[in-house]
Amino acid sequence: MTLDPGVIRKDFPIFNRTIRDGKKLVYLDSGATSQKPNSVMDAESDFYRNHNAAAHRGAHQLAEEATEAIESARGVVASFLGGAVDEIVFTKSSTEALNLLAYSIGSAPAGNIFHLKPGDEIVVSEMEHHANLIPWQQLAKRTGAVLKWFEVTQSGRLDLSNIDGVITERTKIVALTHQSNVLGTVIPLTQIAKRARDVGAIFILDACQSVPHMPVNVKALDIDFLVFSGHKTVGPTGVGVLWGRANLLNLLPPFLFGGSMIETVTMTDATWAPAPRKFEAGVPNMAQIVGLGAALNYLSDVGMENIYQHEIALTRYTLEKLQEIDQLRIVGPTDTDSRGSAISFTLGDIHPHDLGQFLDNAGIAVRTGHHCAWPLTRKMGVPATTRASLYLYNDESDIDALVAATLGAQKYFA
Ligand code: ALA
Repeated sequence: MTLDPGVIRKDFPIFNRTIRDGKKLVYLDSGATSQKPNSVMDAESDFYRNHNAAAHRGAHQLAEEATEAIESARGVVASFLGGAVDEIVFTKSSTEALNLLAYSIGSAPAGNIFHLKPGDEIVVSEMEHHANLIPWQQLAKRTGAVLKWFEVTQSGRLDLSNIDGVITERTKIVALTHQSNVLGTVIPLTQIAKRARDVGAIFILDACQSVPHMPVNVKALDIDFLVFSGHKTVGPTGVGVLWGRANLLNLLPPFLFGGSMIETVTMTDATWAPAPRKFEAGVPNMAQIVGLGAALNYLSDVGMENIYQHEIALTRYTLEKLQEIDQLRIVGPTDTDSRGSAISFTLGDIHPHDLGQFLDNAGIAVRTGHHCAWPLTRKMGVPATTRASLYLYNDESDIDALVAATLGAQKYFA
């Protein structure tokens, strides 16, 4: 089955509006956040209108319904990822999920398999966005562990030439992005995960840019934890997901303390509920969780393989068209081999912020800057890039508009 973006767009009311004095909205910033279909907004609104109560608390019907609503969303997330229901932890964002992991690992006592001591190693890459870099930098500082990283080549690939020297017997944690939010690069996950497994390291996959765009099944990947965000998967803001292997979640100390994550409490101590509750202190972001369930149902109805194939074809088209523009440099892989639909580029010496503003005047929404991955843009030798990031509602006419406006900018700034 092929996907028809024209039909998809009808489900997303934002495409009914125009932009900058009546221009068609060309939304090419889904890497930052995706637009939302009616079914997601309806699910959130229905929760508030008809079922609102504090889940997991209260002895009344509404509380039961609220609990049922978020637990059923947990089931949707679990089957979307191919994991078990008790392996799904709701957080407020993927950033929070990564911080949860870093803090919980950092508080693991000696004897716990997560315990880090001076000289242990944490491995990331130069391709990480800040959310999967800074928590590990800070964890290394707190524990005396050593932060190591894979470098990125000028063609935008991870340099694995010294994989055995980067991931060693001392490596305890490997935390990598599945797909770069700047370059679009999809990493050679199988090879790296195998090396991590061979040395007994915990493998954490930042799937913020892959789960929305391709089928991802945690059981088919040799990984231990995965995070993704609701708002990039046509879902609401304020909800993220941490998936972890059940045995590991149960060994990991909690991060936030408070209501609902406990088993017993005295004035001087407390014990913890089993995972996932152990990691969900406080009243959860219920409406957002329900909205996320609706979002993943929406994506499943369209079909993740269809979305993936659509994006690959559109990425190919975009790369070809952009590379016909004189002085345009793609920052990242220039073909669709192991690559997703985030496409960064520079144009001669036009500053990306100027280009972004010019495109905005034409109704085209792109992101400019270092994309929360400053070490990476530095490594690629550019102060910033312009990034077009595609999704299921984009089509060739969006790319044609981008190309025409980019050519216009070239003339304007000449
Ligand atoms: N990480 C998000 C992006 O790439 C915010 O734009």
